[in-house]
Amino acid sequence: MTNDLYAVVGHPISHSKSPWIHSHFARQTGEPVEYTAIQAPLEGFEQTVRDFFAGGGKGLNVTVPFKEQAWAMADHRTARAEKAGAANTLYQDDQGRLTADNTDGAGLVADLTDNHGFSLVGERLLVLGAGGAVRGVLGPLLAQGPAQVVIANRTPDKAGRLAELFAAEAGDTRLQGCGFDQLSGRFDLIINGTSASLQGELPPLPAGLVGPGTSGYDMMYGQEVTPFNRWLLDQGGRLGIDGLGMLVEQAAEAFAVWRGVHPKTAPVIAALRSGAS
Ligand code: ATR
Repeated sequence: MTNDLYAVVGHPISHSKSPWIHSHFARQTGEPVEYTAIQAPLEGFEQTVRDFFAGGGKGLNVTVPFKEQAWAMADHRTARAEKAGAANTLYQDDQGRLTADNTDGAGLVADLTDNHGFSLVGERLLVLGAGGAVRGVLGPLLAQGPAQVVIANRTPDKAGRLAELFAAEAGDTRLQGCGFDQLSGRFDLIINGTSASLQGELPPLPAGLVGPGTSGYDMMYGQEVTPFNRWLLDQGGRLGIDGLGMLVEQAAEAFAVWRGVHPKTAPVIAALRSGAS
């Protein structure tokens, strides 16, 4: 039997852990999946996608900097992708339409709730950043029913606009956007969705946001504790979680979208933590 072909597309792509993760899922589930990495030229993303599907490819993951282009070129979008404004998963549906999905928010929520035992119901959440990464996870976070979600951003207007965009999804959750200097009071969970960690920087946060019961989640990950998680622990926070679990969970969710089988993620996360890939 020949394998069905999948890939991740990005630029650059050589560092991607997705081929390793999906190959592990394929072995674990027995699904006939072959998964590679494709570096698309910066000006050639759409053509790369069209060539891949024309050549019989079954599904793509999409990463930086192409997630918005993947969303824009799709013939059809799932509801969660529509709201996210970006797509990390592409496939052809049974009518042959290029379909865009976004599994990032589901991945974050799965990591928080399944792997770390959080319940977000009634919690006070602070989300740092108002770019594509945050927009991609807000819908699934709000669906968990927190009491409050504050979006804080270096450019406060962007946080305000994002809060307006998701007002309809907020339900009973108090949702607001602001600048860092307008923040006050303690939060139960602070999620860092800024790209500041990439530059080894920390958003300029006021004191008093972190108490002994506050947890942090950095959507970034690396070999070392991220600057954000280091800050949270230095402020006396309970726990600082990095985004490795989210990476594996969004991959598992994409695998389930394509294959109808949801792989187990715990062994994959454990292997990556111990240096595999
Ligand atoms: P992504 O797709 O990763 O979200 P993005 O859309 O460029 O990328 O958004 C990056 C986010 O990180 C923004 O919220 C940005 O703040 P601005 O909207 O004010 O630009 C935030 N960010 C980047 N570098 C930062 C830094 N050094 N300190 C604080 N926030 C930062």
